[in-house]
Amino acid sequence: MVALLLLARTGHALPVGAGAGGEPLRAVAARAGVAIGAAARALLLETDPRYAPVLAGEFDSLTPEIEMKWPQTEPEPGRFVFGPADALVDFAEAHGMRVRGHTLLWADPVRIPDYVARTGDPEALRTLLRNHITAVAGRYRGRVEAWDVVNEPLDPIRGTGLRSNVFLEHLGPAYIGEAFRLAREVDPSAQLFLNEIGVLSGGPKFEALLDLVRDLLATGVPLDGVGLQGHIFAGLNTPSRERVEEVVRSFADLGLVVELTEIDVSVGPAVPDRLELQARIVGDLLGGCLAVEACRGITFWGFTDRHTWIDDFLGPGRAPLLFDAEYRPKPAVEAVRATLAARAVPEPGTGLALATGLAALAATRRRA
Ligand code: XIL
Repeated sequence: MVALLLLARTGHALPVGAGAGGEPLRAVAARAGVAIGAAARALLLETDPRYAPVLAGEFDSLTPEIEMKWPQTEPEPGRFVFGPADALVDFAEAHGMRVRGHTLLWADPVRIPDYVARTGDPEALRTLLRNHITAVAGRYRGRVEAWDVVNEPLDPIRGTGLRSNVFLEHLGPAYIGEAFRLAREVDPSAQLFLNEIGVLSGGPKFEALLDLVRDLLATGVPLDGVGLQGHIFAGLNTPSRERVEEVVRSFADLGLVVELTEIDVSVGPAVPDRLELQARIVGDLLGGCLAVEACRGITFWGFTDRHTWIDDFLGPGRAPLLFDAEYRPKPAVEAVRATLAARAVPEPGTGLALATGLAALAATRRRA
């Protein structure tokens, strides 16, 4: 009995799962005034019994990983499929999680359905865009707190300028502003984000995003926030804490909210002390963002190494997420907890209590 208790106190005898090894991340995040999220798949809620408890136990924000994308929600013009996205939104609401909608328009041509890509007439293309945003943002009006309205609009290779796709070709650069205006019209309560990949390390793509955002704001486009993805490959694109802070601050200085929207940190199987390295990188990403007041959300692109798109993208074994394939917390979980705790705002009344205490002390001294 004593041994069991001792084991329990050191954490080793606790069942793995939600909260294993410490306070749930969402409780620490709430004190830091930041949402802590994960991308999630509707299918896994059904097929993996260990998935939902950790998702709801640790996170208070949910991003559908694929279920709200154009090919999934409108596979053919005017035929909408909402079942999987509905399941995720229902799940989030049942567990007190907010929803980040992702995404109304993924600018990557590979991700645009063929029937859209084949539409060369500007008016027909505009109608497709209007119908899509009206249906999808309309269905979740008031239930999606923030939308990634446009995802990855910048050229991925040159890193400067807009990437080419059917919208740029036939509507010109104004297609981005049009998507935002439509989203605002359809769901005035949602925060509207531009989401981009590969900018956290600074450089030309970061400068290009900053220019784009300035242009959008200057022309009155209803843009509330910038989402910075965080697909990191240790040793390849690992930004320092200072660099992350600088990048986040540049957007905050324009009056925007900033979120880290898609963190995963791949570490090659042969890298020494790889989980500690990963924890340090995760701590730097969060620390850099949280140093800026406008940083309001941190989302990981999944949460267990059992289910990660990196396995399909790069091959297995890069262990990019917070929990291992058996749902055990990795060192990065502690890094998240510690970094969030460092920004915790004092309990209401604490500041006042302290001030009152000091005043009382000063009064005692004066009387003495
Ligand atoms: C990825 C999903 O994780 C995969 O399951 C899917 O097959 C392709 O898309 N940037 C984004 C995300 O904005 O939507 C991508 O998600 C990862 C890169």
